[in-house]
Amino acid sequence: MKARTAIYPGTFDPITNGHVSIITRALKVFDKIVVAILNNPNKVPLFTLEERLHMIRHVLKGVRHVEVDAFEGLLVDYVIEKNTNIIVRGLRALSDFEYEFQMALMNRKLNREVQSVFLMTDYKWFYTSSTIIKEAARFGGDVSGLVPASVCARLKEKFGF
Ligand code: PNS
Repeated sequence: MKARTAIYPGTFDPITNGHVSIITRALKVFDKIVVAILNNPNKVPLFTLEERLHMIRHVLKGVRHVEVDAFEGLLVDYVIEKNTNIIVRGLRALSDFEYEFQMALMNRKLNREVQSVFLMTDYKWFYTSSTIIKEAARFGGDVSGLVPASVCARLKEKFGF
């Protein structure tokens, strides 16, 4: 049987335990996961692309069948470049649904061969997001348990705690 690779795209600014959970679960469905960080020149992230690549590689060290990469431009083009046709995304609360639906439909319009697959997030991470975690960490809030320990340390460093 042909090995199935899925692309797990995102901003990952920074990677959270919710992301890690989706990656772990996606590995139970697919043979290989490519965690693909969007390099978006129009957005100023908290962590640079290099920092995010490094943080994710560190967090996933020892996890087999995972590649961490960056991409620019259209996701569907990147998916084809990686010789696959599967995008995997996590779905949290209802609020994610509309955005994900829009993206999936646009990707489908751009390339009908590419399929989007959604995994429901674990209830523990239902309401967490990189944005809300950064917001709490910025003012010294304790975000341990929501992000991997190494990411927690980097957030403290960034915000001077
Ligand atoms: O973690 P995010 O910010 O929700 O991830 C969004 C991402 C990177 C998956 C999305 O913005 C994306 O795929 N961008 C690449 C540009 C593209 O292909 N756009 C057309 C589909 S909306």
